[in-house]
Amino acid sequence: HKHLLGIEHLSQSDITAILDLADSYADLNRQPLKHTDALAGLTQINMFFENSTRTQASFEIAGKRLGADVMNMAMQASSIKKGETLIDTAMTLNAMHPDLLVVRHPQSGAVDLLAQKVNCAVLNAGDGRHEHPTQALLDALTIRRAKGRLHRLSIAICGDIAHSRVARSNIMLLGKMENRIRLIGPPTLMPAGIAEFGVEVFDDMAEGLKDVDVVMMLRLQKERMDGGFIPSEREYYHRYGLDADKLAHAKPDAIVMHPGPMNRGVEIDGTLADDINRSVIQDQVEMGVAVRMAAMDLLARNLRARTPETV
Ligand code: CP
Repeated sequence: HKHLLGIEHLSQSDITAILDLADSYADLNRQPLKHTDALAGLTQINMFFENSTRTQASFEIAGKRLGADVMNMAMQASSIKKGETLIDTAMTLNAMHPDLLVVRHPQSGAVDLLAQKVNCAVLNAGDGRHEHPTQALLDALTIRRAKGRLHRLSIAICGDIAHSRVARSNIMLLGKMENRIRLIGPPTLMPAGIAEFGVEVFDDMAEGLKDVDVVMMLRLQKERMDGGFIPSEREYYHRYGLDADKLAHAKPDAIVMHPGPMNRGVEIDGTLADDINRSVIQDQVEMGVAVRMAAMDLLARNLRARTPETV
């Protein structure tokens, strides 16, 4: 692959190859010296048109640990504010010969469009409610390390599915790896036609969580509920917020996940989120660096394998 735009384009063996390499980077990241030269001489530009803590920081750390020259575009201070378009901005940066462009954008499809215009490898760091492929990959690595496998697991994804690119990428990845997926949430936050993806849909947490191996919670994405129905936080927590009582319906060794940023007391109880016997939320963050190192390393290997004529 030239780009990493979405899980949609990856096969089961692509996913396994990324996770296997990421596993070795996860081990390296726990060593005192973490530096390699896999991306030495390459230029990585991070363009985040939407807020981020985890994704932006981990892409920057990943690039630096691999020896790339990393530049973070301060989009708030860029000429986008003077009316320059996304494509003109991308073409301008493209003329500076970057090798890897990491892009987050609030509009679904914006990153795919940009990838068609530039010469370098493009990594989607989240586009609208479309895809967040490195999030699904880091979730998969976290599950594989916690459960010892990434197939034939029963996995519940809970909450605001309709507005979530994390849910969309995870549904595709976990489906490709042959897991049973249960979606739990209010019908108003469930996308139309979702059952066609081979998932089971529930609006009751006790029923949906029964005997699952993995519980993945999602944030209520109010910023994407433009004009639509916004549930009250108190009512939402009562019905769909994960606490110890609701988690008791899952398997006794079920793990709790959240991509972050989380709203404590809205979709998840704060004490449960911090319980290291059940919650792998900090492992997800740790695996984020390893997965992004692996994704960029594999794309860079492809770049180097291309002849100048085909780049
Ligand atoms: N999970 C995730 O994408 O977090 P950020 O928005 O902080 O990058």
